[in-house]
Amino acid sequence: MKYICTYCNTYVYDEEKGDHDTKLEPGTNIEDIPESWLCPVCGMPKDYLQEIRDDIFSLKMTAYTETQHDTKDLNYYRSIARKMLTGICGEYPVCDGQPDRTCTGQKFGASIGFGGAGQGKTFEANYNSLQSYKLKMKVIKEHNEPDMSVSIFNKKIGVPFMGASLSGVKTSMNDVVPEDALYRGLLKGAMSSGSIGLVGNTPESPDDLGVKIVGENHGWGIPIFKPQSQERLLQLIKLAEEMDVIALGIDLDGAGSTYWNASNKPVYRKSEKEITELVDSTEKPVIFKGIMCTEDAIKVLDSGAGACYISNHGGRVLDGGQGVAEVLPDIANEIAGKIPILADGAVRTGFDVLKILALGADIALIGRPLARLSIAGGDVAVKMYYKYVKDDLKKAMILTGCDNLNEVNMDILVATNR
Ligand SMILES: Cc1cc2nc3c(=O)[nH]c(=O)nc-3n(C[C@H](O)[C@H](O)[C@H](O)COP(=O)(O)O)c2cc1C
Repeated sequence: MKYICTYCNTYVYDEEKGDHDTKLEPGTNIEDIPESWLCPVCGMPKDYLQEIRDDIFSLKMTAYTETQHDTKDLNYYRSIARKMLTGICGEYPVCDGQPDRTCTGQKFGASIGFGGAGQGKTFEANYNSLQSYKLKMKVIKEHNEPDMSVSIFNKKIGVPFMGASLSGVKTSMNDVVPEDALYRGLLKGAMSSGSIGLVGNTPESPDDLGVKIVGENHGWGIPIFKPQSQERLLQLIKLAEEMDVIALGIDLDGAGSTYWNASNKPVYRKSEKEITELVDSTEKPVIFKGIMCTEDAIKVLDSGAGACYISNHGGRVLDGGQGVAEVLPDIANEIAGKIPILADGAVRTGFDVLKILALGADIALIGRPLARLSIAGGDVAVKMYYKYVKDDLKKAMILTGCDNLNEVNMDILVATNR
């Protein structure tokens, strides 16, 4: 059988071939690997080895062998992801949810993979609404290197963007790597980039997997839980406290998940009383995700939450809905400065980060691109994407006359009806 180290998501082991470098004879079964054995890539013990499929093994083996010789770039990991996600995602140059993409179109009850719910119109609306704003170039001003740092949840981070909460390797990502490998790549890649990663929640794995992996990452991360029963959420929040997480959240827009309901883990809409009870149950900042209207944003503010997260789940829950960039300015108008605002939806580049911040967010979050890179290259590939986005954000700030994030506002944007 064949295995992958779920800590680094890079090292692969084939029982038949053994491993010359770590002195494992051909035919050494996993149970016969000595307890003292350590992964030659990340140094973790053999407990992190988990079985993977043969086709994924060969892809990972090629990547592992090649990385030993060469430094690989983002396009290299993108090409691995494209192969891993055959039939689900084309890893196109622009991930925009447009109708001709592999991921889009009705799925008639099958998994939506990387696409959107229904006809994928909300996913498309996220992209179109953000791109309907153009950046206004303004270059005559004394030069200063842009300060991209921001304070949030009592931490100062180097960049105003994070990785969105992601999950579901089995159904949405061709079952290519174990779920915990996805989470580790997201969390470690964010941490080593001076940011904070989020992890999601899927009924395919124990509902406390994400929070435990955040704990393993010294608490540096944010688990987002599905809106299960109050009783279960209070238990998960307690566990999050024990793991000393930076913050925790609930994706309230998960309430419509037929997948969770079908897996006998019912999810619910939450009342104002219930969200306040969740906030009051912990000292940790509580984030409510899936907010798409001013009425809900005010309720989140009134609950005492740590942040309000404007998102429609990348268009994956309610089709025929508004794009995030359509609703963000009105919501920000109501709550900005009173509570941190997080927002995601088709943010792909540093230029997009600047736009969504200008529309009112304090932190931009990136989903699909980081999921692809984490399964393909773990934290190494995720870190490369953070750098890519950071470099473009810096350029964008210089060219729009912004020295720091306080200067990023609607004045740097032009609304068009593209
Ligand atoms: C494959 C996949 C799995 C996701 N899983 C979760 C999840 O478990 N919890 C959650 O809050 N959001 C989840 N999301 C939504 C993301 O957190 C985020 O809102 C969305 O991806 C942002 O849009 P973008 O992908 O266009 O950047 C998921 C998104 C994708 C694409």
